[in-house]
Amino acid sequence: MDMKQIIAGRIADAAQASFENCALTVADVTAMLETPPDKKLGDYALPCFRLSKTLRKAPQMIASALAEKMSGEEIDRVEVVGGYMNIFVSRGSLAEGIVKAVLANPGRWGSSEVGKGKTVCLDYSSINIAKRFHIGHLSTTMIGHSLKRIYDFNGYTTVGINHLGDWGTQFGKMICAYKKWGNREEVEAGGVQAMVDLYVRFHAEAEKDPSLEDEGRAWFKKIEDGDPEAMEIFSWFKEVTLKDTQRVYDLLGVSFDSYNGEAFYNDKMGPVVDELREKGLLVESQGAQVVQLEEYGMPPALVLRSDGATLYITRDLAAAFYRHNTYHFDKCLYVVAYQQNLHFKQLFKILELMGHDWYKGMEHVSFGMVSYEGRALSTREGYVVYLEDLLNKAIEKAREIIEEKSPNLPNKDEVARQVGVGAVVYFDLHNERIKDIDFRWERALSFEGETGPYVQYTHARCCSVLRKAQAYADVEPDYSVLCDDEALDVLMLISRFPEVVRKAMDQNEPSLITRHTTSLAQAYNKYYFEHRIMEENDPAGSAARVNLTDAVRDVIKTGLYLIGVEAPERM
Ligand code: ARG
Repeated sequence: MDMKQIIAGRIADAAQASFENCALTVADVTAMLETPPDKKLGDYALPCFRLSKTLRKAPQMIASALAEKMSGEEIDRVEVVGGYMNIFVSRGSLAEGIVKAVLANPGRWGSSEVGKGKTVCLDYSSINIAKRFHIGHLSTTMIGHSLKRIYDFNGYTTVGINHLGDWGTQFGKMICAYKKWGNREEVEAGGVQAMVDLYVRFHAEAEKDPSLEDEGRAWFKKIEDGDPEAMEIFSWFKEVTLKDTQRVYDLLGVSFDSYNGEAFYNDKMGPVVDELREKGLLVESQGAQVVQLEEYGMPPALVLRSDGATLYITRDLAAAFYRHNTYHFDKCLYVVAYQQNLHFKQLFKILELMGHDWYKGMEHVSFGMVSYEGRALSTREGYVVYLEDLLNKAIEKAREIIEEKSPNLPNKDEVARQVGVGAVVYFDLHNERIKDIDFRWERALSFEGETGPYVQYTHARCCSVLRKAQAYADVEPDYSVLCDDEALDVLMLISRFPEVVRKAMDQNEPSLITRHTTSLAQAYNKYYFEHRIMEENDPAGSAARVNLTDAVRDVIKTGLYLIGVEAPERM
């Protein structure tokens, strides 16, 4: 039960009764309905001037005509002000409807079936082999993970893909370096860092001895040719990288359905290249094969180098076909930083030129950069922050705060992990994704303001109220007590939650949920400080306030779940 929908339904009925041939649907009205900033102007307002053209009447007249025909138990009264019809909902029945609806299906408020029978592929995290996972990878990982949950929640079948960066000449160099200076134990023990060190050494030594470059190339050729030794070392590099990365994924609670990355498409590019050629889209340019995109304001896309080698985009073309043929996706999202805007524009354009309509379901979900404590990260300047270090530090700091604030908490380690990781994830998903983020400890871990710990703490507060409220479990609630402005704020935020979830999905924007959930936490805290939840001499009112608390708990938990943040019951 979504109050806005219900009100919209009443308005659509009223419109039908007032005007001949009025084709106003519930969806039309829902889209028009506004939420006045001041409650004196009603809980909802319909701006009637937007109807005056189609109905050929003055806004004020439309508003008055509608007002006369408005009825329904949810409506307390309507007022016509200027061209607006302001609607005041009947608060007791609003409260009862919303709270009951939330509690009837725990954990499902805001879910839908709109994606039933449809599939969405999500390409996110997509790490590079033999590179360490740093905080620049947090956004792709968490935005992708969150979107996967949001689409799932709306009935879609989702396919999470880690499109591994496991192809390129650098891997030949790395094997070369490993053969010369490395050994198995060191790499096993040192993980990705040991591989990075080997790679750095390769470049240092190649400055002195340029013949190394040839050796590196020769090793890459061996990978391309499937030489057993090269393949064995290379796949072991992959294993080591994935094992290292898995620790971070475990901390974040992130998983994938497929790890098919660039190397997987090695033997799958032929048909795409052939098709491009057949359709006359490939042209030669300085010995290389390119697709001309000048007409569309883009530089040419290089598909085959002059030596026949394929490129990043060639692999992405093959991947697009593979995903289309394998998953029959309705949507295919690429959660990748905005630096790759051009790449994806080219990719989609080429598919369009090839005449494959399904390219329309593809979308580049881009996002901004992360800096750390006011400074841009730079590998060259040695200013890197590894994600695992960041998360562990967050857990440690959360643990200190817990020691200080609630030393008697059971399972402190578990809660420290939930709060520390939650703080980092929340911070990442709080801003509109396209904006750059500056990670600051001070703000991320604060228990006040718009932070993960604040929202988690509110959830724990609700749980704590509920633990003490057993006595009211069998009392028939009197929802008419939920008629004050603070309760109404809470109820409105709950009732708008489904709409926000839908919007977050339509815009691939998890931050909408982060912010809405935060507003709900703030509204509940305000309610909590101004009202006693349990009053001995008012069991029926208490039962209603307890149920409101339970509904808030449920919706906050769902909101956090959808952005990939856990909700501890005590903290
Ligand atoms: N591995 C790439 C990088 O780190 C991202 C891959 C994104 N996915 C894709 N299908 N191109 O930049």
